[in-house]
Amino acid sequence: MRRGAIVRITLIGVVVAILTSLVAILIPWLPDPASKQMDRIEFAYWFATVICIGIFAVVMGVLLYSIFAFRVAPDDDSDGPSIHGNTNLEIAWTVVPAVLVIAIGVLSAVVLSQNGNAGTNPMTIKVIAQQFAWRFEYPASKGVKSNELVMPVDRNITFEFESLDVIHSFWIPQMGQKQDIVPGIDTHIVVTPTREGTFTLVCTELCGLGHATMRAPVRVVSQQAYDAWVKKQQSGGGAGGADAGKTVFASAGCSACHAFTPAGSTAEVGPNLDNVAAAAKKAGEDPAAYVKESIVDPNKVVASGYQPDVMPGNFGDSLSAQEIDALVTYLTAGSQ
Ligand code: CUA
Repeated sequence: MRRGAIVRITLIGVVVAILTSLVAILIPWLPDPASKQMDRIEFAYWFATVICIGIFAVVMGVLLYSIFAFRVAPDDDSDGPSIHGNTNLEIAWTVVPAVLVIAIGVLSAVVLSQNGNAGTNPMTIKVIAQQFAWRFEYPASKGVKSNELVMPVDRNITFEFESLDVIHSFWIPQMGQKQDIVPGIDTHIVVTPTREGTFTLVCTELCGLGHATMRAPVRVVSQQAYDAWVKKQQSGGGAGGADAGKTVFASAGCSACHAFTPAGSTAEVGPNLDNVAAAAKKAGEDPAAYVKESIVDPNKVVASGYQPDVMPGNFGDSLSAQEIDALVTYLTAGSQ
């Protein structure tokens, strides 16, 4: 090939590489990392992206140069030159991609293995998923259950997952790690938060009508603030009496599907609960008994306009008798 051609191809390639790099760098494709695992994932992502930009620049350089250099007159219908193989070129386009793909594969394997390593003395948090709510249990801190995920910063945390009904998926975008939660299969992942802040846990597996509302707040705090939080949770969190029902309403995920003015929820997946007491009276039933039945045996009476089997049928098992009573009191007192 003539030297002039190589210079032109190189120039086009450099311009393409610069433009593509600007697209990669200037647009915030990934969230600000908040875990060690996400740092590694981001490194693997950039490693592959840089390789892709390089290959794209070479291809575009040759392509754009050829479009102009080998252009023929519009009425030229003659055959092009007959070209046979070029051994050097064929070796190059086989070996170079093979090396690059192997490099990406090896790097990914290393990142996967490091991200799965919980190190020494990890802290375990149990994650219980159900339509359409998250609950967190802290086995090392006796009795601590929460509907908000609170984690100390710079600590290896092993999440152990359990689903009470269908397949859900655990994902905090800034922390990278993502894991399906399948009923009957024990799964876990490791997350090491690297900065304090508030995040959102989202469900990323279509799990029913309320899937889009299946979110939970996540808070990463200092070890000191975490210890204080655990203590507060163990002493009952200051909630009791009338507040107990409100706490259960939030932690059991009721607000993901039901509108209820005292709780400030406006969801429309299930019936509005503001007039549940009136509905019970209309049906000639005791409001408390009616509400309780709707919680523990939701398919017995399904409100008109709604489908059966949308409301989870296992609250009778997943909530304690006290929690159900508190919820019933809260709902009957807060509705008309
Ligand atoms: Cu749970 Cu989507």
